[in-house]
Amino acid sequence: MKVKAYAKINLFLDILHKRQDGYHELDMIMQSVTLYDTLHIKKIKSGIIIKCNKPLIPLDQANTVYKAAELFLTEQQLNIGVSIRIDKKIPVEAGLAGGSTDAAATLVALNRMFETKLSEKQLRHMALKVGSDVPFCIEGGTKRAKGRGELLEKVSPLPKSYFVIIKPHASVSTKYAYSLFDRTKKNINIARIIKAIESKDISHIGKNLYNEFEDYIIPYNYEIRKAKEFLDSFDNEGCLMTGSGSAIYSLHSSLKQAKEVYTIAKKKYKDCFLCQSKN
Ligand code: C5P
Repeated sequence: MKVKAYAKINLFLDILHKRQDGYHELDMIMQSVTLYDTLHIKKIKSGIIIKCNKPLIPLDQANTVYKAAELFLTEQQLNIGVSIRIDKKIPVEAGLAGGSTDAAATLVALNRMFETKLSEKQLRHMALKVGSDVPFCIEGGTKRAKGRGELLEKVSPLPKSYFVIIKPHASVSTKYAYSLFDRTKKNINIARIIKAIESKDISHIGKNLYNEFEDYIIPYNYEIRKAKEFLDSFDNEGCLMTGSGSAIYSLHSSLKQAKEVYTIAKKKYKDCFLCQSKN
C-alpha cells in the first residue's frame, strides 16, 4: 500500500501558558500543504521494519512511524508485522510536522490495510499518544487547534494559496523552543485571521500571520533570521516561520509570483519547495 503524508504550516501560533503536565496550551491555525512524504507499507510475518531514503533518520522506536505502527498493532492485538519504507521529502526539525504526518498516515493506512474500521475519532485518540501534532495530521485541511494541538475546530478552508518554503541549515528542537516561552502578556488575537480566512482575502490573511516562536528564535539565530529576511525581500502576501522552526514560508495569491520567488530562492537554499494549500 502506498500513501502520501502531507506537511503542515502554521498560519497562527499563540502559546497561552505552560500546563501542569509540562505541555503548553496553544491556540493555532494549522494548514496542510501539498509538500508530502510517501510511505510504502507491506504486511510481514512479524516485527516492524522501517526504511528511509534519507540518512540520519532513526529507524527504531525513536521514529514516529515505528511508534505509530507499534501502537496500532499492539492496541488492535494484531499478531503480524509491517515493513514501511519512507520516501522523505519534508525536511526534519523544520516545524512542518514531517514526523507527525508520517505517523498519522501510518495509522490511517494500517486501519485500511487490516480493515480494523476505527473511526477518525479513535484514530485521533491513538495519534495523540504519538505526538501533539499527529491528530491534526489525521484530519488535515485548515483547522484551529487548541490544547496541546489536539482539540481541532473547523474554520473556513483557506482560499487556494501558494507557498514558497525554505529550510535553512539550522534546525530547532521543539522541546528547546518551548523552553524559551516567557509569559509576557501580548495583545494578539486569533479572531482577526479567522475573519480574514472567512472573507477569503489572502492579502488580509497575510497581514495577520503570527507565530510567537519567532520572538524566541529569530533574534538569536543568525541563519534563520537571514532566511526570513531573504524570503521576505521578495513580493509576497506575508512571510512567517512555521511551528518551532526552522522553516520559513512566504504566502502568495499568485502562482506566477510564487514561481518567481521559488526560482530565485532555490538557487540559495537546497531545501526549497513550491507548494499550495491542501484542503
Ligand atoms: O507532543 P510532541 O512529542 O510532539 O512534543 C514534543 C515536545 O514539545 C514535548 O516534549 C514538549 O516539550 C513540547 N510541547 C509542549 N507543548 C505542546 C506541544 C509540545 O510543551 N503543546
